[in-house]
Amino acid sequence: MSGNTAIVLGGKTGLLGRTLTATLRTAGWTVHAPGRDDLDISDADAIAAYLDACEPSMLFNTVAYTQVDKAEDEPDEARRLNRGLPAMLGRLLKTRPVRCLHISTDFVFNGRQGTPYTVDDTPDPQSVYGKTKLEGEKALQDAIGDKTVIARTAWLFGPGKRNFVHTILNLCRERSSLNIVHDQVGSPTYTVDLAAMCLALAECDTNGLFHLVNNGQASWCELAAEATTLAEMACVIHAIPSSEYPQKAKRPAYSVLDTSRYTQVAGTSPRPWQQALRDYIFHDLWETELIAGAR
Ligand SMILES: NC(=O)c1ccc[n+]([C@@H]2O[C@H](COP(=O)([O-])OP(=O)(O)OC[C@H]3O[C@@H](n4cnc5c(N)ncnc54)[C@H](OP(=O)(O)O)[C@@H]3O)[C@@H](O)[C@H]2O)c1
Repeated sequence: MSGNTAIVLGGKTGLLGRTLTATLRTAGWTVHAPGRDDLDISDADAIAAYLDACEPSMLFNTVAYTQVDKAEDEPDEARRLNRGLPAMLGRLLKTRPVRCLHISTDFVFNGRQGTPYTVDDTPDPQSVYGKTKLEGEKALQDAIGDKTVIARTAWLFGPGKRNFVHTILNLCRERSSLNIVHDQVGSPTYTVDLAAMCLALAECDTNGLFHLVNNGQASWCELAAEATTLAEMACVIHAIPSSEYPQKAKRPAYSVLDTSRYTQVAGTSPRPWQQALRDYIFHDLWETELIAGAR
């Protein structure tokens, strides 16, 4: 087994994958980040050959079917990626000296709990996306639970790819007001902070379920309002109920995640999402046309 060598599935183009790849490389890891042209992730033989050529000590899986509403119409395709790929990885890694860190989601919960979800709370997904992601968690845990970290995260924003915050700030350049849902509350999370948490767990030699998000909670409306305030954009954010913004997939009304297991194992707590959002806007977006053009 080689030293700190990783494969990051989704590392070439994914919102999280790209930042995770950069974080691992900065920390001195050798990282292979295959895109669709480099590796066919539906082909078990191809993945096996890739594993044997790269000899990683760790495989990070950030690939998923992430279009939550479209998944309601394409359950087979969503299941192929969200359950089938982890199941295949479980079979391939069982006989190889490779640990796994797999990313999952807050959407495994039904959202009816009024306090942050811990790793001991019972999942009850309400959407095809949430159900297939939970199936993926179970497939990996059943196959190689002793060397797998399942990292549930939520509401991602970060550099390199469109995300909710980026979309809101772009819309604010064209409109004087926006209506944003106020009755869905979650854990906004900066991909840079999430990648650092993944790295810490990879270096801890641990396994099991973790919730990895920034500290605190917000509604989509509160997140949008904080972002526009920080970016000094003159756009009024109006709070609306979900009933005024119908979406195909049912989303949890409350999916704040409790990170205490991460803190126990890693010895640090994630910082508040508001601090992370400042870094995203001032460090990642400040010099781009997105922000500069708005000022
Ligand atoms: N974004 C969020 O707010 C959020 C919240 C909770 C949990 N998560 C979880 O976090 C993880 C990463 O999410 P993300 O937002 O970074 O996802 P993303 O930006 O949508 O990236 C998904 C990655 O998967 C690849 N991929 C998708 N379908 C593929 C296919 N059929 N064949 C090969 N590659 C394929 C994509 O490649 P292409 O670019 O080539 O399509 C991309 O690199 C996922 O497990 C997701 O469920 C995300």
